This record gives sequence, structure tokens and C-alpha cells, in this order.
Amino acid sequence: MVQLLVIILISVAVGDLKEGVSSIQGDDQRVHQRPLYLNEVVFIIQSQRNSFHAKRAEERRADLIRQAVHLKQNPPVVLLLHSLSDNEGDWSILPILPFFSASFGKNSSWVVFLEEETNVKVAKLLQTLVRFDSWKEWFLGKPLHDEESTIIHHYAFADNPSVFKYPDFAAAWALSIPLINRLAKKVKDEPLKSDFTIDLKHEIALYIWEEGKGPRLTAVPELCTEPESSPTAYLCATTLNPYLPACGDPVKKEDIFVAVKTCKKFHEERVPVVKKTWERHVALLEYYSDYADPSIPTIDLGVPNTERGHCGKTFAILERFVSDAVPHTNWLLIVDDDTLISLPRLQALLRCYSPIEPVCLGERYGYGLGQGGYSYITGGGGMVFSRAAVTRLLGSGCKCYSNDAPDDMVLGMCLNALGLPVTHSPLFHQARPEDYSKDFLTHQVPISFHKHWNIDPVAVFHKWLVDDTGAATSERPHRDTRVEL
Ligand SMILES: *[C@@H]1O[C@H](CO)[C@@H](O)[C@H](O)[C@H]1NC(C)=O
Repeated sequence: MVQLLVIILISVAVGDLKEGVSSIQGDDQRVHQRPLYLNEVVFIIQSQRNSFHAKRAEERRADLIRQAVHLKQNPPVVLLLHSLSDNEGDWSILPILPFFSASFGKNSSWVVFLEEETNVKVAKLLQTLVRFDSWKEWFLGKPLHDEESTIIHHYAFADNPSVFKYPDFAAAWALSIPLINRLAKKVKDEPLKSDFTIDLKHEIALYIWEEGKGPRLTAVPELCTEPESSPTAYLCATTLNPYLPACGDPVKKEDIFVAVKTCKKFHEERVPVVKKTWERHVALLEYYSDYADPSIPTIDLGVPNTERGHCGKTFAILERFVSDAVPHTNWLLIVDDDTLISLPRLQALLRCYSPIEPVCLGERYGYGLGQGGYSYITGGGGMVFSRAAVTRLLGSGCKCYSNDAPDDMVLGMCLNALGLPVTHSPLFHQARPEDYSKDFLTHQVPISFHKHWNIDPVAVFHKWLVDDTGAATSERPHRDTRVEL
């Protein structure tokens, strides 16, 4: 039956799409009687302001428009999320739903969200969407689930974490217009909670599901995250480019200054893990502590250790980075003493960015995004700054409100006040590999993980962050050649 369906789908694929795509025999409730035209679909690229990312998103838009021309259909609306308004919270999607509803709620059928590196085969996508009656509420995607309850999802569904499915954004995901319209009304009627945005894809799925009042994610096998070169990619409406793009020769390790934040009580527990794992890949590194220990060695920045945030320490590191006390480099990496990181992969990634632009890169979290809050790079996964970003931060006079304020959040507030973007890379991780869905990690070449709790950090480093060749890889590992259907 599945094979038969596939054959029918393929034969539709080669047909003429000028007249829109009509439904084929499907299971009863999904039959869509009217044809679906490409201009009933609004594409939202989950783009970012940094120039490298904005350019990738423009290329993605151009590709979608090219395909529309090729299909002899009117082009769809393709929007770059970062350019729609000045509201910092737009990347969290919910705040901008009222705009989508007002603009497209009457004349469109679907809103399809995709990432910069998501390749869309437009004809195949139309044949996929037409199976679903767009007058009903649909939330479509490639499902991810948790194997164990995880801190990044606030330990949700602790009894059975795998029951709740959330979309892998990399495969693209779609909302039917009736669902967009209802959610937009909900967003307007009940102001969004002023809270943390940690794993957006999980949080959006929870918001839509609304404890059973809204739809669950419907799994769509044609939404894929395998590379275009995979033997089963012909079954897919979407495929994925590597997240670690090939931008050229890696940045030299002499051009990255690494600051490790530690304190006396972790000199014996955590610092040896850094020394055993990634320290050897670094050319310039200093350990900053509340206690000078020549055997490591650590530098006492004169900032007392604090139990909670490390704002005082981090600002002292920024000052030191621009001083004559350390070699002049384009890039600064600040990590915790329990961060595990691949420097060769970071060197490869940084080639994509211009150090003369203010770049602040890592895993992006948000705070209060529903009500004009700010984004920040969460510290544990590693925070990367270009020299230009550090100079702007210090020049602005932005300060810690106390030494124990959370450093990453204060930096986020400062950047927000300066109008500088933070740039998200899904390759940085604030938590341990165990805390992320397996299927999500499968299509990544991760750069960092964080925390030693209940794991062997040296083993995690070797399993997840070391390349067999010893060199930086710019190719996706073909770990996942799983058949999708
Ligand atoms: C729907 O309306 C929007 C906003 O006015 C417009 O940009 C878009 O092209 C329209 N789509 C169709 C299919 O007419």
C-alpha cells in the first residue's frame, strides 16, 4: 500500500503543475477536493540578521521563486523572518502570528516554515500538502521526541517523555491557515507569558497542543532532514544541507582566544577534564578563577567567586581581551569549566563570519520575548564574540548590575540595547547529548555540550566532538541513511 502510494505520488510529480495540484485518493478525512496553488502557500524562512545568515536566506528565497517560475505558477510569498519587524521576539514565531493572520488569513491555505539550510522541492511539497484539508487545523512536521525527560523541556511528560512529539524545524513545518488564525487570536487575547525561550520547537508544539485543546503534530514522512544525496531523498519534499557549512579554510587557532571560567572548588574536578580533552586543540587559553593556582595555571581576576551568575568575572574577561595583557586575536570564546567543545569544528564554522562585524554566536535563548524581551547566547554552550562585538559592548558602558548577575543574560540585554543581534547556531548545546532528541542530533556535527552531571565527560567528548580524521570536517557524517518510509 505504501509502495503503491509512492508510485502514485511520483507519477503526479512528473505531471504538469500549471493547474495546481489536485488530491489523489487518500484516507477519507485528508482528501482535499480542490487543487492547491503555489501562491496559497506562504513560506517563512527562519532567517537571522547576521550577514552570512541573511545571505543564505536570500539564496533560499531565490531558489523557491525560481522553482515557481519553472512550474509556471504564480510565485508564493516568501518572507525572511528577521526582516519583518524590529521586534526582537519575532524569531520565537508566536509574537508575529497576528501579522501572518492579518496578511494571509483570508487569501492563503498554508504557512510553511523552513530554515536557511532546508532545501524544498516545491512540486513535491504541494503534492504533500494537498493531502490535508486546509480548511481544518493542521500542524505538520517531522516529529522528534524525548527519550528521557530533560531539563531543556522543564522535565515535561516525566512519566512517558516519548509521547509528546515536536517538529524538527530543519525539515520544515507547516500550519494550516485556520490554525494560524485561531492561534493569532489566542496570542492577542492572552498575552504571552514573559518567560524563557529555550527550545523553541518544543515550546511551540506545547503552545499549539494546549493540553489537548489544540492539534498534535501530524507526522509527514516527506518532510526529511537527510541530505539531498541520500538514496531515499527522492521520497522527500525537503532535505537538509550540512549545518556546518563549507566556508573555506578554518580560522587559524592562533586567532581564537579562549577564556575558561572556573573557581577554586573545581580546580581538581573539572579543569583536569578540559586538560584531558579539548585543551590540546587550543593555541591561546587562560583559566580565570578566584584563586591563582600556578599548577594549572589560573589567573585571579580579582572578582570574588559567586554561586550564581558570573557577570563580574565575564566583564573582567572582556576587558582583559582588549588589553595588552593577551595576544591580539579576532575571536574570543568564553566557556565554563564544564563545557566540552570541538575547537577544530569551531575554527571551520568561524570562517563563515566576518570578524569586523559585531558577531555574538552560540546557542540562542530568549527571555520575555512575548513582551519585548531580549535574546542571549546561553553561556554553558560557549559564547563566541568577534573583537568588534567586544569593543562595542565595552564602549557602550553597559555593566553588570551585580557581580553575581547571570553573565549571559546581562550580555544579551547589553547587545539588545545596542541593537546588535545574537546569532544562533544549533551546533552549540547548553546541556548534555542525553538532553536532546536523538533524531535531532543525528543530522548535526555538534560543536559543544555542557555539564558533567551523570555522564563521563571524557567519553562524551570522544563520542560526540572528535573527528576520526583529526581534522575539521565540513562534511555531514553519513550516520543517518535510515529509510524514511
Ligand atoms: C495575500 O495577501 C498578501 C498581503 O496583502 C499578499 O502579499 C499576497 O500576495 C496575497 N496572496 C494571494 C494568493 O493573493
